[in-house]
Amino acid sequence: MKIEPFGVEQWMNRWETLAVNNIAETCVDSLLLYELLEMSGRKEEVMVDLLGTRMTYGDIKGSERLRGLIGELYEDRDPERVLIMNGGSAANFLALFTIVGPGDRVISVWPTYQQLTSIPKAFGAKVDILQLRPENFWLPDTDELEKMAESGVDLICLNNPNNPTGSLMDRETLERIAVIARKHGAWVLCDEAYRGLVHEPGVSVSSMADIYEKGVSTGSMSKVFSLAGLRSGWMTGPREFIEEAFSRRDYTTISCGPLVDALATVALENRDKITERNLKIIRESVGLLGEWIDSEPLFHWVKPTAGTTAFVGYDLDIPSDEFCVDLLGTTGTFLLPGSCFGIDKRLRFGYAYGTDALKRGLESLSGWVRERES
Ligand SMILES: Cc1ncc(COP(=O)(O)O)c(C=O)c1O
Repeated sequence: MKIEPFGVEQWMNRWETLAVNNIAETCVDSLLLYELLEMSGRKEEVMVDLLGTRMTYGDIKGSERLRGLIGELYEDRDPERVLIMNGGSAANFLALFTIVGPGDRVISVWPTYQQLTSIPKAFGAKVDILQLRPENFWLPDTDELEKMAESGVDLICLNNPNNPTGSLMDRETLERIAVIARKHGAWVLCDEAYRGLVHEPGVSVSSMADIYEKGVSTGSMSKVFSLAGLRSGWMTGPREFIEEAFSRRDYTTISCGPLVDALATVALENRDKITERNLKIIRESVGLLGEWIDSEPLFHWVKPTAGTTAFVGYDLDIPSDEFCVDLLGTTGTFLLPGSCFGIDKRLRFGYAYGTDALKRGLESLSGWVRERES
């Protein structure tokens, strides 16, 4: 079985450690473990519990408490519909491993997290791209999807909010996609790693798992909860699907371990505090990036409405990968080139990894552009 290299992850692995000003990172400013425990108000107690943990495999499916807390993020709050995984990436992999077989037809939005297209291809599926375009605010054209689906579809892959564009599908759009999927008996997998990170107060993000009876949603502790180091995430979907995925998980994961389970539980118990912190960070940061774009005539964007990333276009005569390597080498400012998504003359900004780094990064980027233009 062959699989394409993961463009974004390979770029990050190769260059990220050289970054002085990292404005490509997609997490909301990651928490120190200490900060998480302080936030809980039960630091000593949690430490004593952690130190007294017997290092067994723990609850194989994930503890009832953790699955219950994750269930609360969805409408029917059923812990039996939740399966804990080592990160959203592992959840996506397991969902695709459960759904996709050779000869299946998959339709996926693009640009998006590359797992959603490359894994189905590796499993022998035919993958067709539903292109997201800036002129449509990076949102899927559901009429186009309907036409594409006419020749049959087994799985539709979505990502909401979207990485890299920061676009957000509303409930109506998700419902419309569910109608199309239902007509063909297709599954819908929606990667919701950034769910909840919305820029406009009062706007919420609906979950595909709440909308469609064959909807599977994946989630993560990495972005919304600033805990990528935990390597914790989950999937939710119909009960029979979760049972099937659980049975396949015996071959990949066995369990996610009691320490991760305990810390993810502490984070979800303090969900309101983390959310308040993180919404403040993303809203302030996207404001700073917006001011910068307004002041730089060679850069343009469709302003993101959710998540932590923006897919910014530029009018300079240099390919995006050369742009990013030169910028990093001369200034220490780290960006991700659109070429990682096969789309040139664009850069993915990850703006929520700390406002100081963002300010410094944008300032040095302006200096680099002035230097190049002179
Ligand atoms: C859309 C999306 N899904 C999933 C992941 C994987 O996240 P993790 O495995 O850290 O939960 C990422 C990470 O960048 C992402 O952007």
